Amino acid sequence: MTKKKRVGVLISGRGSNLQALINACKKRDYPAEIVLVISNVPQAQGLLRAEAALIPTLTIDHKDFPTREDFDAALDAALTDNQVELLCNAGFMRLHTAGFVERWRDRHLNVHPSLLPAFRGLHSHERVIAAGCKISGCTIHFVRAEMDEGPIVAQAAVPVLASDTAETLATRVLEAEHHLYPHALALVASGAVFVKGERVFDSNEQTQVPLFSPPLA
Ligand code: GAR
Repeated sequence: MTKKKRVGVLISGRGSNLQALINACKKRDYPAEIVLVISNVPQAQGLLRAEAALIPTLTIDHKDFPTREDFDAALDAALTDNQVELLCNAGFMRLHTAGFVERWRDRHLNVHPSLLPAFRGLHSHERVIAAGCKISGCTIHFVRAEMDEGPIVAQAAVPVLASDTAETLATRVLEAEHHLYPHALALVASGAVFVKGERVFDSNEQTQVPLFSPPLA
C-alpha cells in the first residue's frame, strides 16, 4: 500500500466525528493516519479522545490571538511543523481566513449536518424541521472561504420523522456523519477523487462519485 496521508483534525467540542476518524484509521489498509488534533477550546472533550488514542494534541485558543489572521497563522504553523498533508474540520466552530483557506485548498475537508447547499450555518436541524423537509442528512465537502460552501465529496441521507425534534434528528444525522466522514476521507486520501470546476469527480473523470447513503434506520 502507498504511504498513508498525514491528517490533522481541528475540533471545538465533543469530537464524536474525530472518534469515527480515529476508529477508521486503526484499520491497516486505511489510507490516512491522524498525526495531530488541534482544539481551539481548552476543555473540548475531543482532546481526551485523541489522548486516549495516543495522538498528539494541541490547544490553540483563538482568544489568545488579536486577529483571525494571527490565529490561523498559529494553526498553519502547527500543521506545517507536523507535516500535515490533509486537514479535517470535525465540529470546528471557527471561520477560517481567506488566506488559510487558499493555503489548504483541496486538502481541507469539513462535515456539515445538512444536505448542502441547503441549510448552511448553525441550527440546521431546527430549520429542516420548520421547513417541513422529509429528508435531511450530512455533507462532507472541501472547504472554501464562504461558510459551509465548497465542492461536495459525499453525502448521506436520513429520513425526517413527523415526531422528530432537533435533538432526535441531530442524533440520526450524526450517526450518518460517523459513517460518511471516514468514507469521504478515504476517497480523498487515496486519490480516488479530485476537484474540477468546483465539483468532485472520480478518477474516470466521467462520473461523479455516486451518492453514499447508509441504509435508512
Ligand atoms: C457535528 O454534527 C458536525 O456536523 C457539526 O458539529 C457537530 C460536531 O459534533 N458541524 C457543524 O455544524 C459545522 N458547520 P462532534 O464534535 O461530536 O463531531
